[in-house]
Amino acid sequence: MMLLVLCSIFLIFLIWLVSTVVNNMLLARELRRRLPNFRSIPALPVLGVILHYRRDRTPPGIFATFSGLHQRFGSDLISQSFLNLPNLQVTSASVVEQVLQAKTIRKSIIYEFMKPWLNEGLITSLGKKWAQRRKVVTPAFHFKILEEFLAIFNERSEAFVIKLQNHLGKGDFDIYEYITLCTLDIISESAMGVKINAQDNPNSSYVKSVKEMSRIIFLRLFSITREYKIFFLTSKAAQRQKVALSELHGFTDSVIRERKSQLKNDHSQKVMQEKLNETDIYGKRKMTLLELLLNISIEGHSLSDADIREEVDTFMFAGHDTTTSCISFCAYHIAQNSLVQDKLVSEMVQVIGKDFGNAVLKYSVLQELKYLDMTIKEVLRIHPSVPIIGRKSADDMVIDGATIHAGVDIAILIYAMHNNPEVFPNPKKFDPERFNEENSSKRHPYSYIPFSAGARNCIGQKYAMLEVKATLVKLLGSYRLLPCDP
Ligand code: HEM
Repeated sequence: MMLLVLCSIFLIFLIWLVSTVVNNMLLARELRRRLPNFRSIPALPVLGVILHYRRDRTPPGIFATFSGLHQRFGSDLISQSFLNLPNLQVTSASVVEQVLQAKTIRKSIIYEFMKPWLNEGLITSLGKKWAQRRKVVTPAFHFKILEEFLAIFNERSEAFVIKLQNHLGKGDFDIYEYITLCTLDIISESAMGVKINAQDNPNSSYVKSVKEMSRIIFLRLFSITREYKIFFLTSKAAQRQKVALSELHGFTDSVIRERKSQLKNDHSQKVMQEKLNETDIYGKRKMTLLELLLNISIEGHSLSDADIREEVDTFMFAGHDTTTSCISFCAYHIAQNSLVQDKLVSEMVQVIGKDFGNAVLKYSVLQELKYLDMTIKEVLRIHPSVPIIGRKSADDMVIDGATIHAGVDIAILIYAMHNNPEVFPNPKKFDPERFNEENSSKRHPYSYIPFSAGARNCIGQKYAMLEVKATLVKLLGSYRLLPCDP
């Protein structure tokens, strides 16, 4: 009897497996027919293209593999993941433009891994909800507000520079951890108005949970079984995620509660109303994202605590991980390229003064550092903080004149685009001059998109550039960065 049950289960599984694989392969064939300019990555039944990602393949590393596949097979590819589920991997500027400009936006599966933490905040929300939220949050990034945030950037990056003193003259070390703590301090103060003092308390539960959750999101992103949630739910990572989420949501909830009760106080309400007044939003007083969210209403309703939490959590994630890797790779490339470092320092001396490391940095001064701007752009080319973004085709998505079935995942491989030798000759060479006005004007606007492009571009890009610049000025004002083991 038992044997019969087991055989029946196995048979049902086999039928499911074969029909899924056959369906997916037919879908892939249809995509090939509709998109003749796309090439296919050779795939095996069931395994899809997995073998191309074997660890012993050269060049090593997942992003180098992505770029290698595009160099071998073509700019725009039809790929097949586990069980032959077809997806598109695009890198040519014109196709990327069509995907990012599509009228109905849907996001690919990779955003599902963020939802347990971020729920439907600005990164993951769609349609009307996204449009309303984007509209109300945009004033928080007006340049007058950013100017106010500079006080936080100055203070926190000075603390970061002091923390590095322990390593002076002691050889190579990994700067990433220090920068993570610094950017966490900066974003929590500007988004929530809360000093979490991560640099002084690197082992606090909140800081550890942010790092844990970020790690789990990235692990899921590159898992071969990522389409099948059951594998994650039965893993140890799911348990760790549960613990981290309880800490993260608990913390944001308590900050929201605290700010709300402060607002009930008459005096705070008066100050807040003044801040909200049209001229004051863009005026002198700093208003955190959280204060803004607590005081706005959409279609006559104020936002619920859950609404506010998803946006605050979204900014905590998007606003620290990205700038951390950007600043870390800036430090790395500046250390490896002493001529670039010399040029940066002489520009800082010229624009800010000899003692630039101790200067109080202002918005207008940072805008004048043109070579620094070009250097950061080159870092974001060679090591983009967001190396892949994903979309899912909706009914009306048209690529190269052909309508694509709804529900096909499309990966826009920013890393491969930025390291394409046809667009950026000798792509491994670090050369900020690629971003002088003359060279920039020769390229298709969608060939370099570290902050994405179109309606869903990065809302925090000006904030990010200012933060990165301020931190690098402080860093180079105190230390000479020496080349390390690549
Ligand atoms: C070097 C730093 C940064 C880079 C390279 C970067 C890159 C990006 C990219 C590529 C996207 C598009 C994502 C997608 O379409 O799926 C994005 C969206 C977003 N970024 Fe950034 N980002 C950076 C810093 C920041 C900062 C500092 C903040 C907040 C303070 C932020 C907040 C956001 C938000 C909320 C979105 C979603 C926007 C929307 O869909 O309306 N980012 N970012």
